[in-house]
This record gives sequence, C-alpha cells and structure tokens, in this order.
Amino acid sequence: GRHLLGVQGMHPSQIIPILDLAETYVLMNGSRKTPRDRLRGRTLINLFFEDSTRTRTSFELAGKRLGADVVNMSVSQSSVNKGETLLDTAATLNAMRADLLVVRHSQSGAPALLAQKVDASVINAGDGTHEHPTQALLDALTMRRHLGRIEGLTVAICGDVAHSRVARSNIHLLCAMSCRVRLVGPPTLVPGAMASLGVEVHHTMEEGLRDADVVMMLRLQHERMSGGQVPSAREYFRFYGLDRKRLELAKPGALVMHPGPMNRGVEIDSQIADSDQSVIREQVEMGVAVRMAVLDRLARGNRS
Ligand code: CP
Repeated sequence: GRHLLGVQGMHPSQIIPILDLAETYVLMNGSRKTPRDRLRGRTLINLFFEDSTRTRTSFELAGKRLGADVVNMSVSQSSVNKGETLLDTAATLNAMRADLLVVRHSQSGAPALLAQKVDASVINAGDGTHEHPTQALLDALTMRRHLGRIEGLTVAICGDVAHSRVARSNIHLLCAMSCRVRLVGPPTLVPGAMASLGVEVHHTMEEGLRDADVVMMLRLQHERMSGGQVPSAREYFRFYGLDRKRLELAKPGALVMHPGPMNRGVEIDSQIADSDQSVIREQVEMGVAVRMAVLDRLARGNRS
C-alpha cells in the first residue's frame, strides 16, 4: 500500500523485501556512501506528538541519507498548542505538499486517520498502544543478522506487554514469520487473554525464558498506566528484571534486545544491557537502515 500503518496483516512476502533492502543500506551506511539522489526532491515531515529519541532521529537521518528534504515539526512549539486539531494540522501540512509524513501520537489509530485525509504516504512511528511497525522490522533485521534466520525462533517478549505498541507489532511480525512467541510478565501487564493472539503467556521469567533464542525486554510505560497498575521499581526488578541468573535459562548466547528507552535496574540489569549478548545498540543502527528501506519503497510506490 501507499502507507505503513502497522505490521498486522503483512505477509512474509511483504516483510522480507524490506529487510533485504535494509540490509543493503546497512552496508552503505557503514561505508558512508548512500544514494542521495534516491529521494531527491521529496519532502519528509516528522510529526511527533510524543517524545522520541531513536525513531525521530533515525527517520531524519534516513531521509537525509537518501537526499530527501526533511522537516522536523516541533509539536511543542506548534499551533497544536493553540488548539489546532490533528486533522487541521494534517490539512495544513498537506497543503505544503509533503510526500512522506512520519507520525507519532499517543492515540491508537491517529496515523490511520491522517492517512485518509492527506495525499502523502503516512508512516506510523508509534500510536498509543497499537503499533510501531518500523520497530518490529528493525528488530527482525537484528535477529536475522545474528541468528541467520527469523523462522522458527523462540522469542520471549518480557514486561509491560499490555501497554506496548512495540510488543504488538513484534507479535504480528514474528507470528507471520512462524516464530514461537512467548509473552512474559505479571497478569496486570500480560493478561491471559493475550494468548488469543496466537502466543504463549507466562507469568514467571523462569518459565518464559527457558530455551529462548531471543529475550526482548520492555520498559514499564508509566504514562499509559492507571494508578493500580504501577509496580514499585525494586519489587518489579526482583520478580521480572533480566539478570544474569535468569538469562542463563535461555539458550546459550541468546540475544538480549530492548527497543529503548531503557530503565537500568528496573526491567534490566545494567551489566546485562552492556554485555556481549546485548544487541541493543545494533538495534538502533538497524533502525536507520530499515527506515531508509521503508522511505525508499513508499516514495517509489513499493517498487524496489
Ligand atoms: N524505540 C523507540 O521507539 O524509541 P524512541 O521512543 O526514542 O523513538
């Protein structure tokens, strides 16, 4: 399609070409030789209604490395503060003839709504608890580069799954790629009903991490929790934090992943985050390449 709003419903035949193209951009980024004529004359607007370090910066770099004109709209200094609605903001940007609109919003479905109203290709950069499709793609590329495949992997997604758009996009992608997906966390943050997504649900790390190829840790999303759901950091780490002892339950050399931002000592032990098994920084590197691939394909009408 013209937009990238979510991973749900994507087939491996749509996922794999993006990863393959991203793989070529990893090499070009490494040698500092990217095709700056690829998106010349195209305009990308970053429209972030929620905070971001990785996603916003990597979309900006991705656009610039392909030669696009990139505008970062600072929502906190925009007329959104004067009461302009999301749709009026979109109509305004549409009149400026943006080609690509990268949108992050606290409300699930906001990018899909915008996509119906603008001529640009809309890319969901994270909407509420719904989806964060480029994160799942960069996670998949990271797994494939380290483990040689995605199919058949056992992936444990641990922590605040209920509030996580990263988890939801990963569940859709990994299930589409025939992985065994385990969700691990307390019942308040990993409700048993999530098993209906075609995944296993575990309420102890000891059960959920056993023989996993990949251990993906998630931050507690306090901004999306109601009062009763907020656990104390110390208690949370005691039961659900990733430490050396728990990691030893996973396969030897299992990958440790985290989409960021991390809270060291809450969901993950600081030494584990910096250990040889951690690919957290590589996830960020893959993020730029995957976003280049996504921009490239959308701007060129999905042709490679
Ligand atoms: N992983 C991720 O989306 O990070 P940011 O919130 O910093 O963009």
